Amino acid sequence: MYNSNLINLYISYMKEDYFIWTNILTYVIIFIGLFLISFIITLFLPKKTRKIMGFFIFITLAYYIASGYMVDVNRYDIDMGISNPVKIVQLSDLHLNTSCSYSVDNAIKLCNAQFPDIVVITGDFKTDLNQKNLTRENFKKLRHIHCDNIYVIWGNHDRFQDKEYMKKRFEECGMTVLEDRLVKLQKNFYIYGTSYGGINDKYILKALNRIPKKSKSVILTHSASALFVPRFNKDKLKNRDILFLTGHTHGGQIIFPWMNKKEFARKVFYMNILNGMTSVSGQKIYVSKGIGTTYAPVRFGVRPEITVFNIK
Ligand SMILES: [Fe+2]
Repeated sequence: MYNSNLINLYISYMKEDYFIWTNILTYVIIFIGLFLISFIITLFLPKKTRKIMGFFIFITLAYYIASGYMVDVNRYDIDMGISNPVKIVQLSDLHLNTSCSYSVDNAIKLCNAQFPDIVVITGDFKTDLNQKNLTRENFKKLRHIHCDNIYVIWGNHDRFQDKEYMKKRFEECGMTVLEDRLVKLQKNFYIYGTSYGGINDKYILKALNRIPKKSKSVILTHSASALFVPRFNKDKLKNRDILFLTGHTHGGQIIFPWMNKKEFARKVFYMNILNGMTSVSGQKIYVSKGIGTTYAPVRFGVRPEITVFNIK
């Protein structure tokens, strides 16, 4: 379906030094594309109205793309019966080296404006699998998150050459990397992060074994797909009280109005939704649209989001 050589060439140019140019090139292509689409549509309209209608069609399409940089703040009240209410803000899929920096900066500002007790970042800090580590410049952004408790996990794109180096950089930003690690937040309430960003139910089972039964917990795992694949024994989730916070899908990243989102989610991610709240065996699963982009630095019809969970 795709010319993989062309895609690989494009990805290789998305390394830090070239990214600004691929970004500019993408926007120029989008501008020309929108102009041509608007022009072609106007050919089917009466001559008299072509200019004005062409202008409106162009503006509508441009707004649809621009909305990909307007960050949503989605809020959920979750009743888990914990002693002290907690406000958790989730960021996901920052893709710091390939995303529009405007949307990442905006997401961090909106996150700080919530005055969260806990911030979680559910993986995908970078994009290019060949890139060894994130740069100092990338980390500058993360230092602007103001919260005493920031927990992060790796995503499927976070194949760093030196994870220990990366962990130190995260620590400098006040962030704790949870790699199959359980942290007690308060009496009978825990947070756990899985270490694997891909689809492997082994890491979910590990989490379920580590988290005390009859406790309440938040599990951070990059992709929720492992919970939906047929081989996963869903009975293991019964009689638990878990909120899974996940990302990975980008809400589809590029969604046209005529696309069947459920079918897309099922075929590509093995799930019943592309983003939002769902459940498996009575456990809540939140799939974030995330903030950044992979490969093409553009979202179409899918706004980035930060998500606020008021847990009580
Ligand atoms: Fe991602």
